[in-house]
Order: sequence, then C-alpha cells, then structure tokens
Amino acid sequence: MVLALELVPNTPHQVLTVTATQPPCFQGSLRVPGDKSISHRALMLGAIASGETRIQGLLLGEDPRSTAACFGAMGATISNLDQDWITVQGQGLGHLQEPTGVLDAGNSGTTLRLMLGLLAAQPDTFFVVTGDNSLRSRPMSRVIKPLSQMGAKIWGRQGNTLAPLAVQGQRLRPAAYSSPIASAQVKSCILLAGLLTEGDTRVSEPSLSRDHSERMLQAFGANLTIDPEACAVTLHGPAQLQGQTVVVPGDISSAAFWLVAAAITPGSDLLIENVGVNPTRIGILDALWQMEADITLENQRLVTGEPVADLRVRHSALKAAQFGGDLIPRMIDEIPVLAVAALFAQGSTVIQDAAELRVKECDRITVMAQQLSKMGGSVTERADGLEIQGGATLHGADLDSHTDHRVAMSLAIAALTASGTTTLHRAEAAAVSYPSFFPTLEKFC
Ligand code: S3P
Repeated sequence: MVLALELVPNTPHQVLTVTATQPPCFQGSLRVPGDKSISHRALMLGAIASGETRIQGLLLGEDPRSTAACFGAMGATISNLDQDWITVQGQGLGHLQEPTGVLDAGNSGTTLRLMLGLLAAQPDTFFVVTGDNSLRSRPMSRVIKPLSQMGAKIWGRQGNTLAPLAVQGQRLRPAAYSSPIASAQVKSCILLAGLLTEGDTRVSEPSLSRDHSERMLQAFGANLTIDPEACAVTLHGPAQLQGQTVVVPGDISSAAFWLVAAAITPGSDLLIENVGVNPTRIGILDALWQMEADITLENQRLVTGEPVADLRVRHSALKAAQFGGDLIPRMIDEIPVLAVAALFAQGSTVIQDAAELRVKECDRITVMAQQLSKMGGSVTERADGLEIQGGATLHGADLDSHTDHRVAMSLAIAALTASGTTTLHRAEAAAVSYPSFFPTLEKFC
C-alpha cells in the first residue's frame, strides 16, 4: 500500500492518494487523540468556573482549538495548548467578557451550540458568533427555540435559524424543555444556560445522548438531578462551579476507524489503548459485536469520572445487521465508518432512524452513498439512513470528503481495500478531530 498526501497549490486543500500494492497490516498497539466532546467541555467549564482547571490529553484538533480561541477572546486565560498539561484560569460564572470582534466556532457545531447557552444567559453583554461554510448552513433553531422559551434574545439569518448569530445576553427564566431529537448539543446548551438561571432548568430527550456534560458539570460542582427512565436532567440553578482536574480519554469516535480497519483486514490484531467507553458512546461496539466482530475490552477503569478501557480487535468474518432506534444516538458519529464495515459483511445491512446524519458537517447519508458507490460499493440512500450490500470488491476512484472529517477518514479506510489507485480530495478535513490520522495510517501500510 502506498500513501501520499499532497498539498494542492494555492489552496488550503490536500489530496490523499492510496495505491494498492500489498495489503495493510493492523498489528501492535496505538493510542488515539483525546475525546473531542470531553475536550470542548473541559475548556468551556474551565473558562467559566472559579479557579484553575488542569486538563491532560486534550484533543489538539481544529475543533477544540476553536473553542479555546472563542473563550480566550472572552477573557479566559488558557495556557499553550501544545503541552501535556493545559491550565485554564476561569473567570467565574457570568464573567465572560464581551469581545470586540466576532466569535468564530470554525467547523465546530459543539463549540457554537454549547457556547450559545452560556452567552444567551449572561446579562448585559452582546456577542456575535459565526462559523465556517459548513457550520453556517447547519440548523441552529434546535437550540435557539428552547433558549427563546427561556427568554433569550438571538437573531440570525433566515428567520433566526442560521449563523452568523447575534446574542443579547439576558437574565433567563427556567424552563422544562422536551427535545424532539436525542442531541447532546441541544441538551448541553440548555443545561449551560441553566447555570446562571435561578430555578430548575429541565431537559428531556427521546433517548439518551452522550452524557459528558452531566458528568463534568457535577464534577465541577453543579447540582443536577438525573432521571434515566425519563431521559431527563434537571439543573438546579444558579450554580457555583469550581475548577477541576480533567484527564481526557482517547476518543472512541477516532478509535472507530481502527476498529473497522482491523476488523475487515485479514491477519489483524490491534490494541487501541486508553479509549473512553462511556455507555452513551459505545454504540459502535454494540453494532460491531452484532456483526460478530472480535473486539474485547481490557483494563477497564474510571478516569476523572469517565469509563476508560483498552480495546483489542482482531480480524473476523462480519455478518450484516439491522440498526436503528436508541442505538443510533449512541453511535451517530461512527455511522460513516460503520457503512464501510458493512460493505465487507455477509448480507445486507440497514441503518435507519439516522436522519440526523443529514445535518452533520455535511449530509453524511448522501455523501457516503455517493462516494462508496464510486468505488463499486452497493450503497443505497434512504430518507433516514443507508442500505449496504456486503461482499463488496472495491476499486480505486476519485473521491471527495466534502470537507467532513469523518467522511475523509472513513473513505481513507475504504481506499485501503480497493484495487488500483484512489484519490481523496479535501483530505485535510481529518485535522478537525484527528490531525495525526494519515501519518498513523501510513504506519500500517
Ligand atoms: C456532540 C454531540 C453530537 C455529535 C457531535 C458531538 C457533543 O451531536 O454528533 O460530533 O459533543 O455534544 P448532536 O448533539 O447534534 O447529536
């Protein structure tokens, strides 16, 4: 396997070329970068808590850098991110400074949506927030609607639904919001707005989304009541937050690329060390187990409130399966690479109830179906998911990431299995969550 990553002259873009020679070999061990969701939350809570927060293992991808830049612009003192331990000197709740410029969340939906809850709830301050082309086309009404019920004043393009957004911070009133979608970004936005709000702010969702905010808010001293039966959380505000130490585990969303790569490549035996295995995030393990993948959890432990384990994956014959319902929010970011695994399973795999994929960094249903089909995969788009025929023999093709990090990495894994040469345009998108992805991939080739 020969990999080459080249800059396209006079553009910020990179092209990955993968040429089949001998098959890759996924053996040995590796670590993946820090969990993106936990990294954002550690920076944000550190910035609004009183005192110092120390963070180890922060993801140094573009998304957390956007969060750090936004909170830095609002007065938080964040040490050099490229160090083992990072310190954040918090300003205390309600003391974010009004920046003179626009807050830019880049490609990061988590940065923009979570931050919006904090900004909307801080009286007497005015903020303008935006993001890149992708983020400016993603729906913001899902957070603006509940915040408006709490009294927030937010304006944006297209009937206050799209960024750039202007926020006039207000003293909010508590609300009980029943979210129509299982979204940790929506849930977290409302809870963060509740921090400065007098009374009980309650949010419920149709099934449980990732609960990193709940865990970290409690660790920082917020008073929460969690009702798992009702998939509901109540924050008793106002809160007092105190800076903490956060050790960020490896991101299971990044580990998923290696889980699939090793599962579909004969001869593989790979140990992925120090991966976060929070139950609300391990839908990808449940899905791969359902497909009869050979994955075991070793050395399970709890690290600053989050379950962590080493994941051992060996090659095995995969079987097709049907996925939907409550499993989907628990593996929403891993579905692009799960689609690649399904191409190598015996039978037809159906993924449904996953319409949320259409409003991620790109429309991941359309884009994955189009790109994998170009390689000879039989992948059919459904309104709310994908249907994938297994037993594929892929050939090289001219692919495009559509500037979506998870699409870029999923297609790179698919390219390893293809005959001939695959060209992947806008491959640089991987740096959003996994800057060292291509050098790591090269080691296995
Ligand atoms: C995230 C929540 C999920 C996920 C995203 C990160 C978070 O989004 O897709 O990558 O950190 O809260 P939704 O809340 O929109 O499902």
